[in-house]
Amino acid sequence: MKYGCHRVIKPKGVFPQAAYKLDNTPKAYDDEILIQVETLNIDSASFKQIKDEVGEKGIAKRIMEIVEERGKMHNPVTNSGGMLIGKIKEIGKSLEGKIDAKVGDRIATLVSLTLTPLKLYRIKKIKGEQIDVDAYAILFESSIFAKLPEDIDAKVALAALDVAGAAPLVGKLVKEGDTVLILGAGKSGMLCTYEARKRTKNGKVIVMTRSKKSAGRIKSLGYADYVFRADATNPLEVLDKIEKVTKGELCDVVINAVNASNTEMASIVSAKDGGKICFFSMATSFQKAALGAEGIGKDVYMLIGNGYSKGHAEYTLNILRESKPLMKVFKKLYGN
Ligand SMILES: NC(=O)c1ccc[n+]([C@@H]2O[C@H](COP(=O)([O-])OP(=O)(O)OC[C@H]3O[C@@H](n4cnc5c(N)ncnc54)[C@H](OP(=O)(O)O)[C@@H]3O)[C@@H](O)[C@H]2O)c1
Repeated sequence: MKYGCHRVIKPKGVFPQAAYKLDNTPKAYDDEILIQVETLNIDSASFKQIKDEVGEKGIAKRIMEIVEERGKMHNPVTNSGGMLIGKIKEIGKSLEGKIDAKVGDRIATLVSLTLTPLKLYRIKKIKGEQIDVDAYAILFESSIFAKLPEDIDAKVALAALDVAGAAPLVGKLVKEGDTVLILGAGKSGMLCTYEARKRTKNGKVIVMTRSKKSAGRIKSLGYADYVFRADATNPLEVLDKIEKVTKGELCDVVINAVNASNTEMASIVSAKDGGKICFFSMATSFQKAALGAEGIGKDVYMLIGNGYSKGHAEYTLNILRESKPLMKVFKKLYGN
């Protein structure tokens, strides 16, 4: 079945993403692809939650437990997954000739680990959110993937492709002259900052992040007009700084790219009436955003950051190809 519903163990009748448990038998059915997994990229909000829950030393054990229990890397608290890179081992008969890849190709999956059957044998190494493993995964006919580019280090591509939906969203939302605020200066925050600069041209790009390290890094890229440090869980602190930077005008577009919970209000207070807020963060709560905006009488457009848009993988990899400073930072942080 195209969407992989035949792999759902429980509850019956739902799609794999919504399922509690998937059949992770590492054998491709006729309409599936079997991947020998090299590295998992755990979603940042999920990784942070696991680290906060069990500490650095408990991460491997917790990930093994989740995958054993659910047949997929679907964090039960954040409900998010991540993606992976690996090599095609088998292509089901009915897909032969239908997909643009062959056995042996190295690919990155562009669908979430929350819907990808995963048989995890061993965790070999943890470097940030990137986890080298012995594992097999299954892709369905509907599961999108990208062949790993030859000109970009695989781990760098993995980091960028994990957040491939982010920069294209900025491309769609930001117009020339807009004042744009990016909350968070990690993988997605850096890519969004580049894209915001490109789209707003002479408008303002403001980035807010937490640590000195990430603030220094984003400043050094040279794409933001203002970078300031604040805690995104403290909306009053953020509002105070945004009012100063924008002389009370606030922002046309706000992109939330942090990996922590309780940052909805900082995004909402920073937007103008009629402004647009995109919640790319997986730690976003619909209720907190909807009721929070209502509670302060803020008439804003709020969007869920869709992880997919047409051509998003190439769009994002092209940003790294275009921007030498960004490529350098990505190589340093995520490369081999
Ligand atoms: N919508 C989708 O399809 C999709 C896909 C992938 C990822 N995501 C989500 O997108 C978000 C960002 O992912 P990422 O991979 O770019 O994350 P990342 O590289 O880990 O970066 C997270 C950033 O958030 C900042 N931050 C964390 N807590 C903060 C706080 N309290 N105040 C201010 N800044 C704070 C961090 O600052 P420091 O480094 O200084 O601590 C860092 O700059 C995550 O929530 C992730 O789950 C969504």
